[in-house]
Amino acid sequence: MTTDDELVARAREACDRAYAPYSGYDVGAALRTRDGTVFRGCNVEMVTFTNTIHAESGALGAAVAAGHREFDAVAVSSAERDGVTPCGLCRQTLAELCDDDLRVLCDVGDGIEEWTLGELLPGAMSGDEVPTDEDSE
Ligand code: THU
Ligand code: ZN
Repeated sequence: MTTDDELVARAREACDRAYAPYSGYDVGAALRTRDGTVFRGCNVEMVTFTNTIHAESGALGAAVAAGHREFDAVAVSSAERDGVTPCGLCRQTLAELCDDDLRVLCDVGDGIEEWTLGELLPGAMSGDEVPTDEDSE
């Protein structure tokens, strides 16, 4: 199993590949599955801005495409090593498939600031709150 420091190192590698010509703010994420596989994502900015892919979303998409749906930790790193946390959109995105106890490891350069997803997004909206077709049958 990767250590926390190794997971942050993987996020840094992804950060090095970020495509952020508009903001200049490079971000990488490394998402670890419960079986220890690591998937990475980086931000990919679009000239139209709103369809920009965030690092955490990219990592989650790569993991799901490879057949994984259970996660225990995500590391996030910006080139500034400023301890960036997942933005609000990414918090809700992670909450789709990750539990409140997902460990969120934020890179502050000479260390890690650790959160849980539940701390970053208390009371996240869940699919349980959305009526489905089955509810109306
Ligand atoms: N960004 C991420 O990739 N993840 C976050 O959760 C924070 C923001 C990216 C999006 C955009 O390309 C740049 O950082 C500035 O907001
Ligand atoms: Zn985001």
